[in-house]
Formats: sequence, C-alpha cells, structure tokens
Amino acid sequence: MSPVLVNQTPQWQALQQHWETLRARRMRDLFDADPKRAATMSLTVAGLHLDYSKNLITQETLDRLVDLAEAVDLKGWIGRMFEGEPINNTEDRAVLHIALRNRSKRPIQVDGEDVMPAINGVLARMETFVGRVRSGDWRGHTGSRITDVVNIGIGGSNLGPKMVCAALAPYQNDSLRVHFVSNVDGTHLVETLRGLNPATTLFIVASKTFTTQETMTNAGSARDWLLTALGDSSAVARHFVAVSTNAEKVAAFGIDTANMFGFWDWVGGRYSLWSAIGLPIALAVGFDRFAELLEGAHAMDEHFRTADLRENMPALLGLLGVWYANFAGARTHAVLPYDQSLRYLPAYLQQGDMESNGKGVTREGAAVEYTTGPVVWGEPGTDGQHAFYQLIHQGTQLIPADFIGAVHSHNELGDHHPKFMANFFAQTEALMRGRTYDEALTEMVSAGMDEEQARFLAHHRTFPGNRPTNSLLMDRLTPHTLGALIALYEHRIFTQGIVWGVNSFDQWGVELGKQLANVILAEIQSGAVTADHDPSTTALLKRFIRQRKV
Ligand code: F6P
Repeated sequence: MSPVLVNQTPQWQALQQHWETLRARRMRDLFDADPKRAATMSLTVAGLHLDYSKNLITQETLDRLVDLAEAVDLKGWIGRMFEGEPINNTEDRAVLHIALRNRSKRPIQVDGEDVMPAINGVLARMETFVGRVRSGDWRGHTGSRITDVVNIGIGGSNLGPKMVCAALAPYQNDSLRVHFVSNVDGTHLVETLRGLNPATTLFIVASKTFTTQETMTNAGSARDWLLTALGDSSAVARHFVAVSTNAEKVAAFGIDTANMFGFWDWVGGRYSLWSAIGLPIALAVGFDRFAELLEGAHAMDEHFRTADLRENMPALLGLLGVWYANFAGARTHAVLPYDQSLRYLPAYLQQGDMESNGKGVTREGAAVEYTTGPVVWGEPGTDGQHAFYQLIHQGTQLIPADFIGAVHSHNELGDHHPKFMANFFAQTEALMRGRTYDEALTEMVSAGMDEEQARFLAHHRTFPGNRPTNSLLMDRLTPHTLGALIALYEHRIFTQGIVWGVNSFDQWGVELGKQLANVILAEIQSGAVTADHDPSTTALLKRFIRQRKV
C-alpha cells in the first residue's frame, strides 16, 4: 500500500487551519505580546546564531510543524541517512556527504563496509598533493612552479568549490590563484586562459561521471591549449589531475590515474564539495583550512543528528520553509548574504535546493498535490537593496528571506562594516514592522507637508510589513563557520524533502534536455535537420544553420 501523501495527514490539515487563524495576525503585535519572543526564538549552533523570531509564527505553529515532522518520521530518516541506508531509492544509493566530513571515530557502513578508511585515504592523498603544489615541490613540465589552478567542472563540480574559494578569499595568498571554468560557451575558457602561462598552469578536471559534455569539451580544449604551447604530450601528466568516480574514463582522456582523486557514487554532485571535488579549495587556502571547513560541517551534522526537533536549527529552518510554501503560498525563497565574499552562495544553493527538491512525484512515484521546492534566489546586500528589495517590501508576493552576516569583517575599512550591518538590521526590522498608513501620514505632516498631498502619498509610503526573515549572524566568516553554514542549508533541504516525501538525491529532470541536445548537435554538425522536432525548433535550427554558413 502506498504511503499517504503528507497533505492528507491530520497534522497537515491542522496546520492549514492554524494558518487561517494566524494569517491576519501582525508580527509586531506578537512581539508586543511576548517580550521574550526574540530570546525564545533564537539558538546558536557551531558558531551560527539564528534568530527566527521575525516569522509569522507562534509557539503553537512550531508545535504543529514539529508534529508534522514527526508524522513523516523526520528523525527516522535522519538516522537512515547517517546509517548509510540507500535512501536515494531511484538510484539505490546511500547519501553520505556527512561521512566525508565525519571527524569523529564513528564508523559509517555502506553494505556492511566502513567507508571511513577510504575517505581518510583520499584526504591524506589530497593533503600531500596540496602541500606539494603550494610549496612549489610539484613542478610543471618545464620545471616551473604552479601559479594558477583552473578547475574545469560544472554543476556540483563547480558551484561548491567556486563559492567556497570566494568566501575564503581572505585565507588565500597571491602565490596560487584558482580559476573556475564551467560553461561550454568557449568564451568562458578563452577569457580564463587569457593571460595564463601554460608552463605554470595546473588543470583539475572535476566530474563525477567524467562524461559531462561541457566539462569534457572544456578539458579537451584546455589540453589542446597546453600541448600547443608545450609541444609534448607527456606534459599532460604534470598539468592535469582529475577528480572523478570514473577511473576508466579518466585514463581514456589521457590523465594518469595516479593523478586522480576518487570519490564514490553515494556522494551527490551538489553535495560533493567535501570530497576531492574540494581540491581547489584546499589548494587555495591550504589543507588545514579545508579540514576546518569539514569540522564546521561535522559540528552541524552532529547537531542535526542528535538535537531535539524543537531545538534543531536545520529542521526548524526546513519546517519554516514548509510553513510558507505550503500554507502561506510563498513560491520563492531569498538568500541575502550581507557579505560580499558569499556572493556565490545563492547560485550554489539554487543547485543544492532546486535540483534536490524540484520534484513533482514522491519517492514512490505518486504525483504530489502540493508545492515542493521553491525558487531560490538572491544577491548580496546592499546591492540587492538597490535592485529588488522594493518588491519584497511592497510587492504582492510573500517572499521569505534569510539574512546572513558577520559581526566582524575580514576587511575592516573605516566605518564600512557598521554601515553594512546597519542595513542588514534595518531591513529585517522594516520587513517585519512595516509602516502603517497613519504612521506614514503623521510622519509627513509633522515634517510640514501639505495634508492633502500627505494623504495621497501615504498610500505609496505604507509598508504592509509582516514579511518573514531569518537572521543568521556569525562572529566572522571562517572556514569553520562556513562549513557549518553550508551543512545547515544541506540539512534544511533534507528536512523539506522528507516532509514532501520526495527523493532529494536524484536529478532525472536534467536528462531530457541533455538527450535532445545530443540529437540537435548532430544535426547542426551535419547541416541537416532530420529529427521530428516541433515546428518552432525546426525553424530556429534551420535559421541557425543557414546563418552560420554565411
Ligand atoms: O546535469 C546535472 C548534473 O548531473 C549535476 O547533478 C552535477 O552536479 C553536474 O551535472 C555535473 O556532473 P559531473 O560531476 O558528473 O560532471
């Protein structure tokens, strides 16, 4: 018998009714009614302080959301993930990114075998390699030391390392620069390689499958670039390393498997930065800092695994997302880092969240009858304030938002940081409180404005408020706090996937486009459109082929 869809449970229906009673309440009144609200709706874990009091919730909401989590056996599923059960049911795989950063001595078994020795073995090889490159012991083909590393990968083999390298820029020195090429648009590779010296450049070809069209095309062109300059195919061994689960394909590409760092099929691409896919991170900031990143994630893992749901930061954030998506009608979720170095976090989380929970059927294949993964988007403050915050404040959609900032900046320049964070706090307060018509009117009249004009303008200067935000504050963005922050979001995604009953660890939705692209590529190359396309695609293809001939 198929399990009941979550929206048919009494816990879901109780939340629906609860929303009807709460939707007309004002957050500012909830704060007035409970002076301890900010304190009771805050918690600190692994160096991250979360204040979730500026949400349209009461203690009853939390009780009911936890009831829902219990009804779907969230705790049981967390246990199953940590125990290495094959919870990715469509691919019959365990989901063990948590093992990659398991800094405890706890063994983790897959099919009866402890995976920790293999993980620690790859980490040890990474440490040696990173030490050699950073010290200058690893030399290029002509004997020069490596000055530039180019990571070639896409999706999970790009976004995580790229995001972390930017976030940890203050921990890097200038002697080794790390670059990322992902797009098959030749411009990406050409512009990255412009100015680089082949004799001092090391390529990392990062691909779980080692079959991804974009990555293999870029890797081939990078190899041509190198060989054109160095003129000797044996140079590949000193300038190319691979990170993959597919040793056969790595060897077929011409990379010595001695220069390959492996990982395992139970590491999802979008959860892989903790594996050898993190090699560019370790090269950029040193292996010890990479280990601190793993430790921060491990601290969050232990919290997620053991904490009561009512005090469990990732579970709470996940449940709040469910509250807005399924009961308040939110369709998107904004991630707003007040930290320039976290500028790639929204893009990273787009893959993490949308590829995980952008699903329309349950694990058992039944169509869901409710909203699943939201559109995740965002930009760092304060740039976002001058672009899209207008819509968050006064638009017609409800957009829950996460504000993420640090007490101390790595670049304390004059009063930049106080100004920056004043904006963070001001925005969350404004979104919560809003400004009533009467408040807007009084403000303008007291400033001397003509009353008729003030009455007109007050409509435009009213802010509805009641716009939910979470505030995440850390002392400083370190490898440790960053690791915890990323793991927090991973487990938030997990929580929501469990509530919605979907498999968060496959990505069948990327397949169809890839298949069609292969058919179309053959047509473009042959110049003949022969496949059975729709009329629009046929006309566009013919136009494209015709114009390329001119
Ligand atoms: O197309 C989506 C995807 O499969 C992602 O899940 C993955 O992160 C990306 O492609 C890259 O895959 P690979 O690491 O195998 O090249």
